Amino acid sequence: MDFNKIFQNNQLWIAEKLAADPHYFETLAKGQTPEFLYIGCSDSRVTAEDLMGLQPGEVFIHRNIANQVVPTDNNVNAVIQYAVEHLKVKHIIVCGHYECGGVKAALHPSDMGQLNSWLQTLRDVRRLHRQELEAIDDKTKLFDRLVELNVLEQCTNIIKIDHVQRAWYKTGYPKIHGWVFDVRTGKLIDLKLNMEKEFGSIRHIYDLKPLEKQ
Ligand code: CO
Repeated sequence: MDFNKIFQNNQLWIAEKLAADPHYFETLAKGQTPEFLYIGCSDSRVTAEDLMGLQPGEVFIHRNIANQVVPTDNNVNAVIQYAVEHLKVKHIIVCGHYECGGVKAALHPSDMGQLNSWLQTLRDVRRLHRQELEAIDDKTKLFDRLVELNVLEQCTNIIKIDHVQRAWYKTGYPKIHGWVFDVRTGKLIDLKLNMEKEFGSIRHIYDLKPLEKQ
């Protein structure tokens, strides 16, 4: 692909937007009030806004390899805190995807340099759900299930965060959702996780009991 084509594409995109609304960029420049925070994989095939049919300004986005929410990752923590406390998003979505290279790598241990530590939390997901995963013979089903369980665990990691719990106690928001994008069909699948129920079952371990509730 010609590198310069990107800038030609950009000119066409500007023209399209302005043809539909001459004040499009003026309005856009005024600020953002997205209702969703989307945490997804960096994979180039999983284009967040596109697959949701959303426009600029409608979704706050964080992407990393295999959509991880690692408690010591300053980046994801800052994104979540900003989204919850300042943008006051109503929904946080963790979106995994089938055929995820990161998940595949976690299924096939090998020395991958910098990726070793990054993939460790994914290997933890595999260990936590060992019993269920080791009972699956079919390789594709096993791969798909680890993608789904990874989404569940990352959603769980979100409800462990102090400021998420604080917001939750105060307003009942954000709601946490686990999705999977099927790159084989283009379909977006809601795993219909009940994170409030999940939290209920691990509350005695992770409830930080925000100060005002004590
Ligand atoms: Co991926």
